[in-house]
Parts: sequence; structure tokens; C-alpha cells
Amino acid sequence: MTTTLITGPTGGLGRAATLAMADRPDGELLLVGRPGKGLTDVAAEARARGAKVHEIGCDLSRLADVRAAATAVRDLVDAGTVGPLRALVANAGRMSADTREASADGYELTFAVSYLAHAQLIGDLLGTLIEPARIVLVGSNTYYANFWRRLMGVPAADWRDPLEIARPATGDKPPGFTAAGVAYSNAKLAILYYAHELQRHVGSGVGVTVFEPGWMPGTGLSRGTPPAMQAIGRGLARLPGVSTPVRSGPALASVALDDKWAHLRDGAFVLIDKVIEVQPFAHDRDRERRLWEATAQLLETTERR
Ligand SMILES: NC(=O)c1ccc[n+]([C@@H]2O[C@H](COP(=O)([O-])OP(=O)(O)OC[C@H]3O[C@@H](n4cnc5c(N)ncnc54)[C@H](OP(=O)(O)O)[C@@H]3O)[C@@H](O)[C@H]2O)c1
Repeated sequence: MTTTLITGPTGGLGRAATLAMADRPDGELLLVGRPGKGLTDVAAEARARGAKVHEIGCDLSRLADVRAAATAVRDLVDAGTVGPLRALVANAGRMSADTREASADGYELTFAVSYLAHAQLIGDLLGTLIEPARIVLVGSNTYYANFWRRLMGVPAADWRDPLEIARPATGDKPPGFTAAGVAYSNAKLAILYYAHELQRHVGSGVGVTVFEPGWMPGTGLSRGTPPAMQAIGRGLARLPGVSTPVRSGPALASVALDDKWAHLRDGAFVLIDKVIEVQPFAHDRDRERRLWEATAQLLETTERR
């Protein structure tokens, strides 16, 4: 029996991926999510489908919680309570409508939850993964604002030094939807840069990939977007080329578990079920190295508090 950890199993894509993994024989799942009904419900549904499930309560906007979740995972593995950890799916994400919002550690919330928390979790669990292992990070084409995202007015990333990206906005008024979109796209570009650098640090026994589920209007992620935009999203949900958690969730489970994806390395970018090239600027050794260094600094500062 092998074990897969997934963050954000309670909603949209993560829930669909969790249930797809639970349908597989010998599935053992570590569900890392905010404690509450969403987590207990998805755990119960996964168990009903035959999976062995452990719920690990964790608010990803608190790095102390993330470190505690990693300790809980290590304890389960060390005690032999769960099988070898072979896949980690960093799925959780959010788009905060107001970029002045800060995590418990004082970092801009979208960046903190979508990127930093996963960097902490993965760093803490690298020694626990048993090779051959996979790390799948959920990214998004918003990093360069592809056709669908442009249509919805979600802006591309505007890369700056990571310490600056991590800083919440200030001021009396919310900076607005464009700033929120840029923060989201920056967090997703950070995931690409991190994935490329992570592969250089882990060696070839661990395959690092980035999964893009396609645009899935109507998931919890759109909670931060203006209501009119949410309505347009719901209206477009039936168009070909627009995805849903029901379609993309099993595809994410496949990238984490199926032999056909075992060769993927180096942050290969999988759009639902196809490997595609990222934009040239999404490969940048200087930015990747700087992000790695700045991430260590951001995480270390909170550990000392
Ligand atoms: N929807 C799209 O069009 C789209 C496109 C490309 C990529 N993505 C990416 O796909 C992933 C899943 O998004 P989704 O569309 O399925 O959205 P969703 O329905 O909002 O799911 C997000 C998940 O992240 C969890 N999460 C958020 N903040 C958290 C926190 N502080 N602590 C712990 N868990 C937290 C949520 O948990 P709660 O239930 O506790 O809120 C939920 O399980 C994200 O990384 C997103 O960026 C989405």
C-alpha cells in the first residue's frame, strides 16, 4: 500500500481528485485541510469508496499549523501506521480579494496559502517521501493570462522580488480586483519557478510536476472575484475548452499515481492530460535561485518567532 498526501481536499478540484484516488485499489490518503465539516465529509466519502484515510487538520495560512501537519505525517509514517509516502499533491489555493489581507505570519494571503505553505510542507516532508516519489503542484495559466483568463480580466503575473511579493498591500482602501489577480498570478508563477528549482534539489528519484486543471468556473476559488464575473463564469461552464472538477480531478489523480506519468521531471507542465511548454520567461535560473533563497528566509523568520 502506498500513501498519497493532498492539500485542499475539501473543495472543487481537490475533492474530485481525492475521490478519484479513493476509487483506486489500495488507496491510502492523507487529507490535509482546514478542520471542520468539509474535511470530515470528504474523508467519510473517500472511506466509503474503500480508501484508508487520515484527516490532518491544518490551516495553510498559519505556518505553525503547516509544520505541525508535517510532524503528524512523519509520526504516522515512522510508526508504520501508514504505508510509504510516495506522492504529495499541493493543490490548495486561494485568491484573496483584498491584497491587504495577511496570513497569521504577516504574509500576503494568496501567496502565503497557495505557495509558501506548500514550500514549508514539502521541505518538511522531503526526507519522508520514499523514492520513486512524485510531487505535483497545482499551477495555473494565469501566470501569463491565457485566452480564458484574459477574457475574465485576470491579469498576468508581474514578478518582483519574492520578499516584496510576500508583503501585504497597505492603505485605507482595497487595492482592487486587478491587484488581487496579479497576486494570484504571481503565486502561480512562483509555483513554476519553485518546481524547477525543487527538482534541482531533490534528484531524479522524485519527479516534480506542475498540473494545470484548465479553467473551472464556479469552484470556491472564484469567491474572491466580483459577482458579475462569477455569473459569467457559470454561464461559460458548458463551453468546450472550459473544464470542471469532475473532469480535471481524475486527471490530477492520474498525474500523481499513474505509471504513464512516472517519467515526468523538472516541473513539467501538464494541462489536464497533455504536457505543454511553459512561456520562456517561466524558466529563469536567477529568479528560481532567488525565490529559493527568499523562501528559506520567509519561512525561517516565522520559525524563530
Ligand atoms: N478554478 C480554476 O479555474 C482553477 C484554474 C487553475 C488552477 N486552479 C487551482 O486549482 C486548485 C484548487 O482550486 P479550486 O478551483 O478547486 O478552488 P476551491 O474550490 O476554492 O478549492 C480550494 C481548496 O484550497 C483550500 N484552502 C484554501 N485556503 C486554505 C487554508 N487557509 N488552509 C487550508 N486549505 C485551504 C480550500 O479549503 P476550504 O474548503 O477550507 O476553503 C479548498 O479545499 C488551486 O490551487 C487553484 O489555484 C484553479
